[in-house]
Amino acid sequence: MRFSEAVVRTARQLEAAGLSYGQGFQDADDEALRIAYAASGLEFSACLSDDNIPHELLLTDDAISIIATITHERIASRQPLAYILKEAWFSGNRFYIDERAIIPRSYFSEWIPDQFQPWVDPVQVRTILDMCCGSGCMGICCALAFPDAVVLASDNSSDALDVASRNISDYGLQQRIRLNHGNMFEGIEERFDLIVCNPPYVSADRFMALPPEYCKEPDVAFRAGADGLDFILEMLLESGKYLTANGIIVVESGTASAKLEEFLDDVPFVWLSTEFDEKVLFLLEADQIRTARNKIIRLLEIRNPASVSSD
Ligand SMILES: C[S@@+](CC[C@H](N)C(=O)[O-])C[C@H]1O[C@@H](n2cnc3c(N)ncnc32)[C@H](O)[C@@H]1O
Repeated sequence: MRFSEAVVRTARQLEAAGLSYGQGFQDADDEALRIAYAASGLEFSACLSDDNIPHELLLTDDAISIIATITHERIASRQPLAYILKEAWFSGNRFYIDERAIIPRSYFSEWIPDQFQPWVDPVQVRTILDMCCGSGCMGICCALAFPDAVVLASDNSSDALDVASRNISDYGLQQRIRLNHGNMFEGIEERFDLIVCNPPYVSADRFMALPPEYCKEPDVAFRAGADGLDFILEMLLESGKYLTANGIIVVESGTASAKLEEFLDDVPFVWLSTEFDEKVLFLLEADQIRTARNKIIRLLEIRNPASVSSD
């Protein structure tokens, strides 16, 4: 069987099984192609185009059998393909991934290589915090995009940090990326020129409706209270203390963006548009965060009076 025939056949099997996608792979065709690459031992590249796919390659019996095994596992277990292959791609870079961390797929992938220009002056960025770092994909891509900066990557999951540590070593970035294990800003004392954060922002209703594949990922990566804003609001409130005078914070608010804008209607969010959505990533300057502080405190007091500290 030729490579392309195997891809078409596998895609049909995946489609017929009614799987869900979006965890690093777009659709059945995308997954089938990656399965065929993995089974044939070919090096996958993020710069793949139709011209360099080995359509006519004659597959060995071994490769055909591996394709069948992976496809069967994907369908029978509803395990996301990235976890089966132990590989994910983010911003054109390959990362090790397993069930201990969410599969990289943030909207940040479009903006990190462009250094958030024109809002961020890359020359001024020496210190970066990757809050909620998961597998470390964003912190690592930031270290690559800002070669003169050091990065602190933080998460409250020690499992995720183990995955991040492995990825940081794979990229040889141990000298420039440190890890912190803590709840939100716990254990962090310095200020940063740039904070990037892809936090949990899935509302309770949306979480209950997630397809089986998404339930294979750590739920702490998704759940953020009734409306998806529990983490973001508290983090925004605290973040002013961790930004340098001209610091900038960029946050993915995804499906919680509309509620966030509704609640903080006078905060001048800069929405960074992405290929698939206009309002999923926002940027704020340190001064804007400090100005919004009282409004956020009032909002948090209404939502959960016990949770707010006024220092
Ligand atoms: C949506 S994932 C993002 C992971 C990674 N940045 C990425 O884009 O693939 C959110 C991450 O936040 C972490 N997290 C959840 N609650 C946290 C908290 N209170 N403090 C620190 N990290 C938290 C989770 O463990 C998870 O790794």
